[in-house]
Amino acid sequence: MIGFMGSGKTFWGKKWAQSSGSPFFDIDEMIERDEGRSAAAIFAEDGEAYFRDLETDSLRSFNGKNHMIIATGGGTPCFNDNITWMNGQGITIYLRSTPPKIFNRLVTEKEKRPLVKHLKDEELLFYITEKIKERDFFYNQAKIILDVDDLEENYVPDLLLV
Ligand code: S3P
Repeated sequence: MIGFMGSGKTFWGKKWAQSSGSPFFDIDEMIERDEGRSAAAIFAEDGEAYFRDLETDSLRSFNGKNHMIIATGGGTPCFNDNITWMNGQGITIYLRSTPPKIFNRLVTEKEKRPLVKHLKDEELLFYITEKIKERDFFYNQAKIILDVDDLEENYVPDLLLV
């Protein structure tokens, strides 16, 4: 699962894992557990490039594994050719949302997210809009694109039910 911060990757990933009886993994959680510190602390102490390497290593530790649902971080597909790698391994799903909806979800959760925590609320919507434009090139390479704001509460992609 790929998509911008606040698009619901963890929320939907957990739900769909439960419905399909598959294990669920969250790349950010794996990094934070392995490092014993938050993503915000990693960014602050060692910088974004270091975080991106950890992210790529965690993602690629799933090489060749099957039948699981993985929520990536918002930037995961946009670095180190990760989207190409993911498409070679399995089914990528882009959870697409709109800047105003993402804004509403992120505005109360900025602290956890190093890329936006320093932004004033009035700067956040602009940042989201611009960053999505930049990242859509990668997100749009997903095999499946779902408009997540239109999903019924109990929606499960067909491919997870077979
Ligand atoms: C990031 C998104 C975050 C986390 C890190 C960087 C990004 O994940 O990986 O803060 O570059 O968009 P979520 O999408 O789970 O918030």
